[in-house]
Amino acid sequence: MNILKLIEEAFEAKKYSYAPYSDFHVGAALLTAEGEIYRGCNIENAAYSPTNCAERTAFFKAVSEGAREFAAIAIVGDKGEYLAPCGVCRQVMAEFCDAERFQIILARSKEDYKIYTLKELLPEGFGAASLVGKV
Ligand code: THU
Repeated sequence: MNILKLIEEAFEAKKYSYAPYSDFHVGAALLTAEGEIYRGCNIENAAYSPTNCAERTAFFKAVSEGAREFAAIAIVGDKGEYLAPCGVCRQVMAEFCDAERFQIILARSKEDYKIYTLKELLPEGFGAASLVGKV
């Protein structure tokens, strides 16, 4: 996996962020198991709750085009922080990703990033296996 390329793509995605209410701009780049990259940005709404996070934009773009297996996601904010995904986005990741293998890259720059597995950020998560009593 080319981590630096994925971070670069996340910064590109952030350029399209639509965040007139929070002024908090986020970009994400999602890498599929086949090596394709889907970009996403946050998209806000005057009614607030329809707002979509950058991570989910990337996932929904990818899933809507047939992708189902994912290797990693890079996420960047614009306040110089390590931007960890919100709980709703972690849950969406859990739907499609192997929690022990899927990598979440929180990048402040191409030189400064931290990597977590989904399992680390969403331990004991609820998922399809929970519905049939397999956990
Ligand atoms: N946001 C994301 O895009 N990803 C996250 O993981 C956290 C929050 C967005 C949603 C909203 O547009 C803005 O950041 C402030 O919450």
